[in-house]
Amino acid sequence: MTYLIAGNWKMNGTPASAKALAAGLAAKAKAGSKAEIALCPPAPLLSAVDAAVAGSPIALGAQDCHANEKGAHTGDVSAWLLKALGCRFVIVGHSERRADHGETDAMVKAKAAAALKAGLTPIVCVGETDAQRERGETSAVIATQVAGSLPEGATAANTVMAYEPVWAIGTGKTATTADIAAVHAQIREVFKATAGEAGGLRILYGGSVKGANAAEILATAGVNGALVGGASLDPEDFWKIIQACP
Ligand code: 13P
Repeated sequence: MTYLIAGNWKMNGTPASAKALAAGLAAKAKAGSKAEIALCPPAPLLSAVDAAVAGSPIALGAQDCHANEKGAHTGDVSAWLLKALGCRFVIVGHSERRADHGETDAMVKAKAAAALKAGLTPIVCVGETDAQRERGETSAVIATQVAGSLPEGATAANTVMAYEPVWAIGTGKTATTADIAAVHAQIREVFKATAGEAGGLRILYGGSVKGANAAEILATAGVNGALVGGASLDPEDFWKIIQACP
């Protein structure tokens, strides 16, 4: 299975910085890389990044989409527009969207369904908060989120899952490899029960992945790539993560 390393730039970057970052990575990737790479810039920078990675194997991804194809939804972006702009991936259900915008599993499921209909691969994010972890609810939360966020028609081939413990995002803390392996195994099980099969399903880990810890995390059983926030804005460190794929 080819590893996927996706850079989630979140709400960072300018047209100039996005172009420079993406062009630098594209030049490296053209010479060969150890993983499939996706860059997920803020929506207004998609075209600049698309132009910068043209002719390279780097794929374009977005950070969110609306559940509808078009209509009166001020400020939102349709999965069909993302597809037309050259996206191959779209992140849905990121914990920052769940927290900042009150996105529920049902909303995430509708967004993932739209992504599939538009011909995009949704990267469906799940993960427990610190309080949920402290209360020993991790496995219950993961089961509910995976089962509730997967739309009809989701398969191991057209969908990517991402496990991002909320407490590990942007904190410098990472889950232990034993915990990551256990949660990834559970995600695979629930995905199989929900979608019918999970062979070949890629499950990414996210949460303070850096060049320094990538090799250990990426070598963990059941981990098929990484969803990288902060370190994806640093070209050297992001490249280290890509090259750390087994
Ligand atoms: P950090 O890598 O900055 O912890 O962010 C992880 C993340 O949320 C990626 O989607």
